[in-house]
Amino acid sequence: MQPQVDQVEPGVPEELAASVRRAFEESYGGPPARVGRAPGRVNLIGEHTDYNGGLVLPVALPHATYAALAPRTDGRVRIDSRQAEPWEGTLDDLAPGGPSGWAAYAGGVLWALREAGLGVEGADVYVDGTVPLGAGLSSSAALECAVAVAVAPDADRADLAAACIRAETEVAGAPTGGMDQHVALLAREGHALLIDFGSDETRQVPLDLAGRTLLVTDTRVSHALTDGGYGSRRDDCEEAARLLGVPSLREATLDAVEGIADERVRRRARHVVTEIARVTETVDALERGDWDAVGATFRRSQASMRDDFEISTPELDAAVAIAVEAGALAARMTGGGFGGSSVAIVPDERVAAVARAIDAAFVLEGFRAPAHLVATPSGGAGLVPLPA
Ligand code: GLA
Repeated sequence: MQPQVDQVEPGVPEELAASVRRAFEESYGGPPARVGRAPGRVNLIGEHTDYNGGLVLPVALPHATYAALAPRTDGRVRIDSRQAEPWEGTLDDLAPGGPSGWAAYAGGVLWALREAGLGVEGADVYVDGTVPLGAGLSSSAALECAVAVAVAPDADRADLAAACIRAETEVAGAPTGGMDQHVALLAREGHALLIDFGSDETRQVPLDLAGRTLLVTDTRVSHALTDGGYGSRRDDCEEAARLLGVPSLREATLDAVEGIADERVRRRARHVVTEIARVTETVDALERGDWDAVGATFRRSQASMRDDFEISTPELDAAVAIAVEAGALAARMTGGGFGGSSVAIVPDERVAAVARAIDAAFVLEGFRAPAHLVATPSGGAGLVPLPA
């Protein structure tokens, strides 16, 4: 039974696909060839570890982005959305240094796919969806991956992920690590996805929540990964690896890290090395059904992100603390940080109470009202069949 909580609804895929198809027809005067769908994600644990060759454990949300697309042959691209201003230009305009804003994410994928020999010679695209924007739930990867599967549904998923990552890092200029695109493309319903960025291997980890809910709370403090905070953390990690003489912090030991003289760089590296270990501990604990142990790794992860990596916010710290006080088995902030969302594992019968307790605490603190969503572990990107 779905717990009773005032939440952001994921919507019904067939209905959303039909609605994006209608909007496409209104914008462009003809039907799309395909509608691609790709989910947002919530990361259970493993934050800022992907670009350090480490481990991550994300889950795909039932909330997704839908991209209706009709290929063109004249090099032109038109992109429109219910959420943003339309963009029009040519494929060549979409290269690095091209558009800014959301068109860079959607259009950047068209550019990167063509670079990879998987693309189209132009397209009309219309996008809509239910992944909250700016909530740290990877709306940008969902957008990229929805466009990618609509362009090349049969392509190898690793190739699609690579093109989406190029769009995000080279065209949109967000120096992110690849977790979000991988999970959007590879997730399996009822599972978390363990990704090893050292070996590029993935493993589906069954997530038997029986009687528990993944409750995501969007603090509605917005962040952008193109702001300086994310990039400066990445720079500190690279500096730490350089000081230790290792290719990435995946190869660093905690002992070696504790010897780094620069106090800030030492703390950043300590977060990464301990966080990678916590991913393995969490997977083991989930496989044993040991929720106390999951709670303990989440607690240590939150402290590490707050004190060592300094990416939490007062709103995130409050959401996490109140969730645990009100009965969550585990809670931590999730995603890039500097705002965004927390994730909590909550016994079904406590979900409404946890959400209410967070709402009340936010009123008292004078924070913006948060939004909650239930993260039923969902499947990865694909085409949504269009009714005849
Ligand atoms: C963002 C990035 C990811 C990852 C997380 C932090 O979501 O897109 O690549 O680095 O932050 O774990």
